[in-house]
Amino acid sequence: MTSKVRLCPVADVKDGEPVGVFVEQLPALAVYNVDGDIFVTDNMCTHGNAMLTDGYQDGGIIECPFHGGSFDIATGAAKAFPCQVPVKTYPVTIDDEWVCIDQP
Ligand code: FES
Repeated sequence: MTSKVRLCPVADVKDGEPVGVFVEQLPALAVYNVDGDIFVTDNMCTHGNAMLTDGYQDGGIIECPFHGGSFDIATGAAKAFPCQVPVKTYPVTIDDEWVCIDQP
């Protein structure tokens, strides 16, 4: 059985206001609310040393605070130069009103 990692309460993640989460032994994670749907990606931009949660969420797109690159929050695909490498995404489950991912 796969064990789940609890990241944060669903209620803490407002639409358009991504939340950074640190869990032992995992990379820094970003939790997003896109129109009521919850998504999780790595928080570190694949272009440089920036936390995506310091950037700007525009619907389903997260714009990095550095250099203007961006990613699709649902798929992790790089959407704007200079980002070219996708950001890792994690399947999300909601358990008891908490945002959870599988233990990688
Ligand atoms: Fe994110 Fe350069 S560090 S676009």
